[in-house]
Amino acid sequence: MLSRQTLRSVSAARHFSSSASRQTKVAVLGAGGGIGQPTSLLLKQNKLVTSLSLYDIRGAPGVAADVSHVDTASEVKGYAADQLDQALDGAEVIVIPAGVPRKPGMTRDDLFNTNASIVRDLATAIGRVAPKAHILVISNPVNSTVPIVASVLENLKVFDPRRLFGVTTLDVVRASRFLAGIAGTDPADTPVTVVGGHSGVTIVPLLSQSAVGKAVNGEAWEKLVYRIQYGGDEVVKAKDGAGSATLSMAYAAAKFTNQLLRALGGEKGVVAPTFVKSPLFETQGVDFFSTNVELGVNGVEKIHPVGPLSAEEEKLIEACLPELKKNIAKGQSFVSSS
Ligand code: NAD
Ligand code: LMR
Repeated sequence: MLSRQTLRSVSAARHFSSSASRQTKVAVLGAGGGIGQPTSLLLKQNKLVTSLSLYDIRGAPGVAADVSHVDTASEVKGYAADQLDQALDGAEVIVIPAGVPRKPGMTRDDLFNTNASIVRDLATAIGRVAPKAHILVISNPVNSTVPIVASVLENLKVFDPRRLFGVTTLDVVRASRFLAGIAGTDPADTPVTVVGGHSGVTIVPLLSQSAVGKAVNGEAWEKLVYRIQYGGDEVVKAKDGAGSATLSMAYAAAKFTNQLLRALGGEKGVVAPTFVKSPLFETQGVDFFSTNVELGVNGVEKIHPVGPLSAEEEKLIEACLPELKKNIAKGQSFVSSS
């Protein structure tokens, strides 16, 4: 049996370690959905998250009650439709998977009419309640929803490009998995750089930048590039009307959130691909672009260039830029006209 004195020192040590460690509140907007639920579960397992705030227009309190029973230290609270401000209050990182997913035959851009206003309204609340938060946008079409958030925050005079991220992690996760499947390697040892945006031809895998990827040529290269660009369609088709990728997306969201939290906590050298306000193709009218980005205590620290390209990859970039420019402009003009 433990003596009173031992119990007192254990309790004092606990108190010391929790008050000395970093407090990080992460909010998930759209937490009741196909991505939101598993993302919340994965974030509950992340020791860098001390408080988890789950918001949705339906179902978040139930998801929160469920996730809160997982035996990790973080606190979990669920918020109903009319409690967005409370959900956002004090959030340092906000993950947004709110919005409708695709059905077979739809493009991501077909989601614009519904998701643009959802994202705009959430961004407006963030700008008002949590203007210093790091915002991770999952809702599609990412190529347009990220510019929407930027424009809303610009209008509110609180936009900091270092704190806005389109989550393109799933493209990179898929690229590694698909390439490893061909090469017979472990995906963990088969990184692939993917740049551009997050839809069809705007997703540009740079296979030539890794030894394993460089070995894939000709028709095999074309098939692999197509599979990486249209991997999302495979899931939409297989789910047959029941939505799009949710579990692999939650994995990707949790992976990127963890990378950001590590960097915010002071870890150096954290590099992750993400769709951010970028100077790389600004002269061609493309204000946002995904490349590897070094993350730091303030968010985006350094945007890496695309790096060396093969002749085929140059052509992929040429095909990407006009489509991306159109998608970005569509998001920007939605905000200026609303
Ligand atoms: P879902 O329909 O299962 O869940 C969406 C959730 O958003 C629902 O619970 C809904 O109630 C909620 N919601 C709707 N309006 C809201 C609002 N105003 N505030 C808060 N919550 C709101 O859909 P899903 O499968 O989770 O997909 C969500 C989005 O993520 C879709 O737009 C999808 O295309 C996108 N997505 C992006 C990626 C990526 O790589 N970035 C990958 C997969 C899916
Ligand atoms: C994906 O890449 O899986 C997502 O963007 C969802 C979709 O619509 O394909």
